[in-house]
Amino acid sequence: MARDGAVYVCQSCGAVQTKWSGQCAGCGAWNTLVEELQSRPPGALAPSRNARTRGLAFQGLEDAVPTPARMITGVDEFDRVCGGGVVPGSAILLGGDPGVGKSTLLMQVVASAARRGISCAYISGEEAVEQVRGRAQRMGLADAPVKLAAETALRDIMEALKKEPFDLVIIDSIQTMWSDAHEAAPGSVTQVRAAAGELVRLAKKRGVAVILVGHVTKEGAIAGPRVVEHMVDAVFAFEGERGYPFRILRGAKNRFGATDEIGVYEMGDAGLAEVKNPSALFLNTAGERAAGAAVFAGIEGSRPVLVEFQALVAPSAYGTPRRAVVGWDSGRLAMVLAVLEARCGLGFGDKDVYLNVAGGLRISEPAADLAAAAALASSAFDQALPQDCVVFGEISLSGEIRPVSRMDSRLKEAAKLGFGRALAPSVAENGSPPMGLIAAGRLADTIRRIHDGS
Ligand code: TYD
Ligand code: MG
Repeated sequence: MARDGAVYVCQSCGAVQTKWSGQCAGCGAWNTLVEELQSRPPGALAPSRNARTRGLAFQGLEDAVPTPARMITGVDEFDRVCGGGVVPGSAILLGGDPGVGKSTLLMQVVASAARRGISCAYISGEEAVEQVRGRAQRMGLADAPVKLAAETALRDIMEALKKEPFDLVIIDSIQTMWSDAHEAAPGSVTQVRAAAGELVRLAKKRGVAVILVGHVTKEGAIAGPRVVEHMVDAVFAFEGERGYPFRILRGAKNRFGATDEIGVYEMGDAGLAEVKNPSALFLNTAGERAAGAAVFAGIEGSRPVLVEFQALVAPSAYGTPRRAVVGWDSGRLAMVLAVLEARCGLGFGDKDVYLNVAGGLRISEPAADLAAAAALASSAFDQALPQDCVVFGEISLSGEIRPVSRMDSRLKEAAKLGFGRALAPSVAENGSPPMGLIAAGRLADTIRRIHDGS
């Protein structure tokens, strides 16, 4: 039994248990339960004899809704993911792996915003002021009127923020913040929850926009994580493959805008540069397209993006052939291989299969099925696809190719980049397509055409 007032809190999902155990009953994670002292929230629903109730002032649904004002930071890709600028008084959580570039991105955001007259503060709990300033100088942002501080004590931060009326405050990171009202260690769920709660309340009360940085754990959740996600108005993930300079800002939750927006950046010597035309970046346009390559016309957020799927099918040297996939789902690859085998007679049983999405982008759309299948068949037959052809379509288990969303935008983007043909589901869209459609009805027919090079 725990000590009086002590409970065991899972550091991964925030579940509370009265007894310690090796595995969390809430999320199944191992060794995540940590003893924390439970402090009763002050005045929590204790029945009071002379408490007076006031009743609720209900309002109609049809009453006018004021559109929230937006602070345009001037970092376009960031503003777009926010839904057209940062809403005053909102709280945003920015999650990402350590070292992906969260501090760099937010320094650019506040520097740009400050230059536009928005009063900004950057509070770092991880780095000294000199380090933050040094980074800003390297990025050529030293002249921006941003107020810096290095602090982890929540009480001091709250005092300072109540005195100075900032418009935008960065807290880097929420895991380093520490409230003396709780005995739990910094970085524990209790502390993270308490610190986030206080900061979000301050945001709402004073109309300050607060951006909290959160490190992501191995499992992909933001540490101290789900407990913070529901408190804030928006959750953004900053992602990037190691070894690639590209970084993607993705909206996971947004009370003030669409969640499927992405912002694309390239990490360079002078910080993050915005990438306005991601298709040109992810696409290897130089030279002939090799056998095994297929250009997928995808949709990321609201934007069409063209990326190259690269496949290599090679004789296997071992009893169990290898399947390796980067940037796509391995379960999806297994399905496409099975359909190719069962419906098109294309066997991979004695072959190693490698599939790679060029440029470090992660694709999760079902529309990519046909691009993967085309790349695989192209490699297996050693037959290159037509140079000016893009591919998209969902494959069903029966071997049919199914229509996907936003076919028009996909075709338009491909046409803009000089593609003249599309291997795509055969469904008539409204109006005439901007390019020649190679109708793909059944996968087997499509694979035969790739084999014949027609
Ligand atoms: P950082 O913003 O500190 O990451 P995070 O806050 O997410 O932990 O970025 C760290 C990485 O970015 C580091 O490996 C160096 C690299 N970097 C550049 O390549 N160019 C730059 O101009 C800056 C500032 C950082
Ligand atoms: Mg950092």
